[in-house]
Amino acid sequence: MWIDLRRVPVALTIAGSDSGGGAGIQADLKTFAALGVHGTVAITSITAQNTREVTAVQDVSVEVIRAQIEAVVSDIGVDAAKTGMLHTSEIIGAVAEEVRKHRFPLVVDPVMIAKSGAPLLKEEAVKSLVEELLPLADVVTPNAREAEVLSGIRVRGLEEARKAAKLIAELGPRAVIVKGGHLEGDSVDVLYDGDFTELRAPRIESRNTHGTGCSFSAAIAAELAKGRSVRDAFATAKLLVTEAIRYGIPLGRGHGPLNPMAHLYKESERYSTLLRIAEAIRILEGIEDARKIAPEVGVNVAMSLPYAEGPEDVAAVPGRLHLVGRRLKALAHPEFGTSRHLAKYVLTARSYDMSVRAALNIAHSDETLARLKELGLRVSWYDRREEPPEVKAEEGATVPWGMRIAVERIGGVPDAVFHTGDWGKEPMIVLLGRDAVQLAEIVREVVK
Ligand SMILES: Nc1ncnc2c1ncn2[C@@H]1O[C@H](COP(=O)(O)OP(=O)(O)OP(=O)(O)O)[C@@H](O)[C@H]1O
Ligand SMILES: [Mg+2]
Repeated sequence: MWIDLRRVPVALTIAGSDSGGGAGIQADLKTFAALGVHGTVAITSITAQNTREVTAVQDVSVEVIRAQIEAVVSDIGVDAAKTGMLHTSEIIGAVAEEVRKHRFPLVVDPVMIAKSGAPLLKEEAVKSLVEELLPLADVVTPNAREAEVLSGIRVRGLEEARKAAKLIAELGPRAVIVKGGHLEGDSVDVLYDGDFTELRAPRIESRNTHGTGCSFSAAIAAELAKGRSVRDAFATAKLLVTEAIRYGIPLGRGHGPLNPMAHLYKESERYSTLLRIAEAIRILEGIEDARKIAPEVGVNVAMSLPYAEGPEDVAAVPGRLHLVGRRLKALAHPEFGTSRHLAKYVLTARSYDMSVRAALNIAHSDETLARLKELGLRVSWYDRREEPPEVKAEEGATVPWGMRIAVERIGGVPDAVFHTGDWGKEPMIVLLGRDAVQLAEIVREVVK
């Protein structure tokens, strides 16, 4: 994400403060930052809130709400804005007037109830929201329950979500997105802007969903601030929120905050991950006689991003390291998405223990195994000859199957896992750990 410092887009959030840092302007600012947009704020209410409940609400006076918007608009400028918690019809009226005056692109998140169940919009204010604010909105983003209130129909499934979106569009906004976070099955959001566009993500089983709606509407505002279309903004918001939920932060005893920075952290780790593999290669190439540990197929060393989801998030050495005389030599620089096999080990190990990020394969021998145990490593194994035919038939299923056996055997992810081969399959030892360099150092110790 390259940001041209001469023209940083500015987004404004007009919303409530969440003392727990999970939702509201706190989530919005993180989301703006994660998308390379400068965030500004007009705080409408101060809520005392944690992952479980809202314990107090103090509305900011409409004068001060307006003054915040004026202060930002008059000096910094606003490329797009979003609204979140607008507690009373008086606040809604004041915000609507400011929007009419300044005419920035607007996303309205019609927040009515907090994740914990506390009301964030007074009942009589729904009317003001519908009459004053919705007609000014470029996009409005109700969840299923809010869509029911705004459309007057029941929303329990996709078909009803489509109907509700169309009905809400009649209230004046240019586009409507009915979010599917509260429906069953995959999480499907429905955009209606004259046509329907639907985006689907797998439902993530997580408690840490505090702030999903805030982050979603903030991401749309951030992308509109960059001049993107509503459809493109929708796509980016959906990706960001899905990752933010997947890497939600398990804090508190209720709904922990989601993590809008997950995507940014992931990107920032790319370079250091490649450097760790390069350092591991240097150690392996420095081993004077590597003949005992070099398998026919070559040695490889892989390391994943801390937020890895698939093989494209795992780096390794294309073409592997091979013996040249007695020494190992890497054929190329490490790259992401090049080793399917070792990536499978890393990703499978990660599904049992998030801290595992690296794998390194060496030749199988009893002598090496004895050395590994001597070094205090926890070793486990599986027998490829016991692989059920249905696992064999499925592409890429062997490693997850074998790893499950190896993990169950010792009740955790081993530091080294081996199998003794099968027809046409060379026996192999795979070292597993947090860091590629640490694994290369183990190999150096083994050979000593
Ligand atoms: N468990 C989940 N797995 C995947 N996506 C989810 C999940 N929960 C919500 N989402 C997505 O998060 C976004 C926000 O949707 P949601 O319906 O939760 O909004 P909301 O109810 O307004 O959230 P909040 O309670 O934070 O205000 C949508 O894109 C939705 O599809
Ligand atoms: Mg919401």
